[in-house]
Amino acid sequence: MTELDPRSPIGVFDSGVGGLTVVRALMERLPFESIHYFGDTARVPYGVKSVQTIAHYTTQIAEFLLEKRVKLLIIACNTMAAVAAQVVRDLSPTPVLDVIDAGALAALAATRSRRIGVIGTPTTINSNAYARAIHRIEPEARLTSQACALLVPLVEEGWLDHPVTRMTAQEYLKPVLAEQVDSLVLGCTHYPLLKALLQDVVGPDITLVDSAVAMAEQAAALLTDLKLHNPERLPPEYHFWVTDVPLRFQTIGERFLGRSLSNVHVVQW
Ligand code: DGL
Repeated sequence: MTELDPRSPIGVFDSGVGGLTVVRALMERLPFESIHYFGDTARVPYGVKSVQTIAHYTTQIAEFLLEKRVKLLIIACNTMAAVAAQVVRDLSPTPVLDVIDAGALAALAATRSRRIGVIGTPTTINSNAYARAIHRIEPEARLTSQACALLVPLVEEGWLDHPVTRMTAQEYLKPVLAEQVDSLVLGCTHYPLLKALLQDVVGPDITLVDSAVAMAEQAAALLTDLKLHNPERLPPEYHFWVTDVPLRFQTIGERFLGRSLSNVHVVQW
């Protein structure tokens, strides 16, 4: 592994705007770290695309961020993490973290009964990546997974507390609740924005596992282990790279980030 500079930024990427939930958690947990975020807004959504296509796009994005000399690469997109995490690990000279590993660890910390529910895009759920990550650590865990294809567009529409979103979530979660899970992994970048509604739907006895927060904790721990925390106490720099005109990214992104967004650059591929 090449010598890494603690002053270098962290690279975070996603298929679009959703990974900003991870950026938000990172900004709160690691306030002195600069971040380069890449959102592939021209080609989103990934959650319904083939493994081959996703792996190809993921490689392009990882290489772009590595050119920015990032000290750590974070795959914020559950779909990319589900099917292309190894591709990134194979090409990256810097450490790589992904939301699925982080979410799996957090789910195991949260569950008492070892009955865990996972929701995500169709590609994430069909890949079985969460089941593999959880069973690697706890073979006795019992998983119930549910693809929720409609939740991403509903979040992008801003229907975070809307009767249509509530009915949709109730419908998707019926089979998961029937399995008496005690924790539910929000296995998609968009779902943390639905936390309040989902908690209402599943009731107070089920713990929601937010993989964005889990990711920020794992990143902080890794920087400590590798002695890569930025020693400077200056305001960090945030840059956002997108592949389509940034108007929509800017509007929706501010909702995801909970603050205003500047330094948005368009990458022409
Ligand atoms: N970022 C994706 C995920 O976390 C959701 C959006 C998409 O389908 O591209 O799975």
